[in-house]
Amino acid sequence: MPPTSSPTEALPTQRCPFDPDPRYRTLREESPITRVSTPAGIDVWLVTRYADAQRVLGDGASFSNIDSSSSHLMGDKDALGAPPPPGVLLRHDGDAHSRLRLRLAREFMIKRVAHLEPFIRRVVAEHIDRLAATSGPIDLYRAFGLPVPALVISELLGVPEEDREKFERFTAAQVDLRFSLEERQAAAYESVTFFAQLVDAKLKNPGDDLISRLILEPTERPMDAAELQGIAMLLLAAGHDTTANMITLGTHALLQHPKEAARLLDPATEATAVDELVRYLSIVHNGVLRKAVADLEIGGVTVRAGEHVAVVLESANRDAAFLDDGDDLDLARSSAHLGFGYGPHQCLGQHLARLELRIALPELFRRVRGLRVVMPADEIPYKNDAVVYGIRELRVDWDEVVA
Ligand code: HEM
Repeated sequence: MPPTSSPTEALPTQRCPFDPDPRYRTLREESPITRVSTPAGIDVWLVTRYADAQRVLGDGASFSNIDSSSSHLMGDKDALGAPPPPGVLLRHDGDAHSRLRLRLAREFMIKRVAHLEPFIRRVVAEHIDRLAATSGPIDLYRAFGLPVPALVISELLGVPEEDREKFERFTAAQVDLRFSLEERQAAAYESVTFFAQLVDAKLKNPGDDLISRLILEPTERPMDAAELQGIAMLLLAAGHDTTANMITLGTHALLQHPKEAARLLDPATEATAVDELVRYLSIVHNGVLRKAVADLEIGGVTVRAGEHVAVVLESANRDAAFLDDGDDLDLARSSAHLGFGYGPHQCLGQHLARLELRIALPELFRRVRGLRVVMPADEIPYKNDAVVYGIRELRVDWDEVVA
């Protein structure tokens, strides 16, 4: 069958600022599977309803990850079709994906992740102590949002203590969009070299960390250096900027919803607060990309083999057919959501992300009294055009920091 013709509509990317682009409401009602062109110039089928999103993300046999990832939608078209890098499970399908996922799943189970709690508490406390020692205003993204998850990943991967400052610097430079493209590329290069050396050191002298456990695990098919490097790079890419943006954008959203912010410290909402924030903010936005491997039908529309499908999590998570009052932030709400994705590629690090957010956000609101944003609303630089939504800079001030 011939491919579907080119679209006239552009991908809706303008959030407001916590809500999805308003065009999604109309699309969900009138044209839930619609063809659009993306900033990178790739034409995709946009999936905007919750049930259709589940159908696509849940069907790893019909929708492939191999030659595409969401970054290709936002300007990285040249890399489309490149072979999947070793170890990067987000870019593998079927057995190759399952093999990697099974080996890593144990590391990200709730019980295993709980071992990191004392470390996370210490890092969060130290960074809040630093606020106490400074006078505001500061940029919350750089001073708190970025360093906390970077240090957690460095602990997980077994980065030596003496390298942590360097690690924190280049990991931040890689994702901080205020750095020039050249600076970000240089930081990405530094990180490739760093991980190659780290894996090499662990192969020679394993310790008690995720990479070493993967090396030491008795198995018929041990992982080679390239796979271990790919895993380390993916964990950094998937777990750093996401959590950093959840901390920074989450703080901003809570400051705009003071009643909800107060509930953050209420034990009754402890179990639901973080997931509701993840749903409400749906920071992995602008479409999660897949490629159809055969002609098939979704929501009454025929998608041809080889065509791309982009699942819009921020739209699906507000779908009235799945959730009442989805546009409200309600920390007591206990609802399923797609903020961590769905199906075979659902977020591997979700328990770790929840733990970090359950510590970082309440501690920030408990200890930093009178926390407030001190930049004009129209100057807050939102990342509408990025794969992970958030804020490039959030200048805040406060009255006092308590113990
Ligand atoms: C609040 C923070 C986070 C959010 C919102 C988030 C969201 C997501 C989403 C939506 C996906 C699915 C992407 C797709 O289907 O294409 C995903 C996958 C993934 N995430 Fe997260 N994530 C977060 C934190 C983390 C952390 C802390 C880690 C680990 C350190 C992590 C590791 C991964 C990995 C490895 C995958 C790929 C899984 C696979 O392909 O099987 N994420 N994440």
